[in-house]
Amino acid sequence: MSAKSIIQTLFVLFLSFLDLTANEDGSLLFHGNCITCHFETKTVSAPSVVDFKEHYLRAFPKKEDFVNYMSIWVQHPKEETSIMLESVEKHGIMPELGFDLETLKEISEYIYETDFKNKHKGHKD
Ligand code: HEC
Repeated sequence: MSAKSIIQTLFVLFLSFLDLTANEDGSLLFHGNCITCHFETKTVSAPSVVDFKEHYLRAFPKKEDFVNYMSIWVQHPKEETSIMLESVEKHGIMPELGFDLETLKEISEYIYETDFKNKHKGHKD
C-alpha cells in the first residue's frame, strides 16, 4: 500500500466515523427531546412521529427539503408555515424549544432516516 492510499483509507474511515456519530447524536437528541410530547406511533397530546413524518414525506420527498423545512419550522413553530393545520387546531401550536438550527438538522435527519414502525436503536417502549 502506498502512503497515498493509506491516507485515503484513513480519511474514508474518518468520514464514516463522523457519519456514525452524527447519527448517534440525532438519535439521542430525538429520544431525549421530542418523544416527551410525540409518541413514536400513537397520537396523544401531539401527532405521532409516524404521522408527522408521513405528512412531511408527502410534502418534501427529498431529504434535503425535508430536513431544511422541519428544522426551520421546529426552531420557530408558526401556524402560517405549518403543514398540519388540523394538528394545530386539535393540540394548539407546538411551543418553541430553543434549539439551534444545527441540532435541529441532526434530529430531522435522524427522523428522515429512521423507520419508526420497526425496531430501531435507542427506542424505549
Ligand atoms: C411540549 C411538547 C412538544 C415537544 C417537546 C415537541 N413537540 Fe413537536 N409538536 C407539538 C404539538 C402539540 C404539535 C401539533 C401542533 C403543531 O403542528 O404545531 C407538534 C407538531 C410538530 C410537527 C408538525 C409541524 C407542522 O407542520 O405543524 C413537527 C415536524 C414536530 N412537532 C417536530 C418536533 C421535533 C423534531 C421535536 C423535538 C426536537 C418536537 N416536535 C418536540 C408538541 C411538541
